[in-house]
Amino acid sequence: MNDAMLGLLRPGIRDLHAYEVPAIPGIEVKLDANESPYSLPVYAQEALAKELATLPVNRYPDPRATRLRELLAAEYGVSPSCLLFGNGSDEIIQILIACLSRPRTGKERASILFPTPTFSVFRLFATTLGVDSVGVATGDDFSLDVDAMREALREARPNIAFFARPNNPTGTLWSGKHVLALADEFPETLFVSDEAYGEYAQGSLVKSLGACANLLVMKTLSKIGLAGLRVGFAIGAPQLIAELDKARAPYNMSSFNQFAAHWVMSRHRELLKKHCGQVVLARAAMAAELGAMGELRVFDSDANLILFRVGAAGAGCGPKLWGALCRRGVLIRTFGSSGRLADCLRVTLGNPDENERFLAELRSCLAALRGR
Ligand SMILES: Cc1ncc(COP(=O)(O)O)c(C=O)c1O
Repeated sequence: MNDAMLGLLRPGIRDLHAYEVPAIPGIEVKLDANESPYSLPVYAQEALAKELATLPVNRYPDPRATRLRELLAAEYGVSPSCLLFGNGSDEIIQILIACLSRPRTGKERASILFPTPTFSVFRLFATTLGVDSVGVATGDDFSLDVDAMREALREARPNIAFFARPNNPTGTLWSGKHVLALADEFPETLFVSDEAYGEYAQGSLVKSLGACANLLVMKTLSKIGLAGLRVGFAIGAPQLIAELDKARAPYNMSSFNQFAAHWVMSRHRELLKKHCGQVVLARAAMAAELGAMGELRVFDSDANLILFRVGAAGAGCGPKLWGALCRRGVLIRTFGSSGRLADCLRVTLGNPDENERFLAELRSCLAALRGR
């Protein structure tokens, strides 16, 4: 690539960091990506593999994902025309920002807004699409600062406001009532309730869609045990969905992910729900164990993850502990030692063996750090 080519890049892209998934040798317990620890039983995997083998790979997939659409629409009690599919809900975020990026009168660029810290992909796609990002700081415990949100909404007049409910990486569940009240107050902004972790929490806003014209809900199958399939979707008013659908790549959902998602969701839905229930129980136990260690600040979570701070923010204990855990074969997520998440670590709930191993290694590492 020559300088002229580099010069064509949209401002902001060269400063971005690629979404990094660390490849660390020797990891035995992987609790870093908010996946479900539970896969399908072997008999189900084998039956699915047989079915997938019969798909006509020379043909394009159904561009409308009709069967999956009908199944998921029935699950959420909406019309099939209320659904927009993405290759993971990441793609839905990209489509939303791309479509709703017209600058408001008197502004040079459009903007999106979100409470911070939150899911990094909102900002990532805004930057790649030439849209400004406005982050609104949450409180010390990551609770929503409703007054600050109102002020920022008034000031920035964003096209979209994203609320990850529950939030990643903090696990906080921002109140649906607050989101709906703000949506009512700012009817010219699209309010998005990103419910990627909704199966681990209460308070979905799907039922409020009919009463709130500027609301959209995002869902994904990734966090309930099907991350490998890449199926995400938005639920919203048919008129808006029809417009967004024009910007979707025509065959974004492969035959395999459509078929597999439909197959699993129609045959094994109860099993996936049971797995989520197990994770919710494990979350309470894990939070209690972490709290009992005395030296961690553990944040409340309604997702399949727990965020905790090690030592004082900025003292550097978070990354040290993370490195020590990696050396013992346990991978969780670190956020460095500066900024709002300074010295915080995020652990995804695993199966009982993984959780136990994590806690045991954590205790040893903390003891070693203390002994220094
Ligand atoms: C809050 C939130 N929204 C959306 C996503 C994207 O999920 P996917 O693209 O796997 O559907 C994630 C993934 O981590 C997330 O944390």
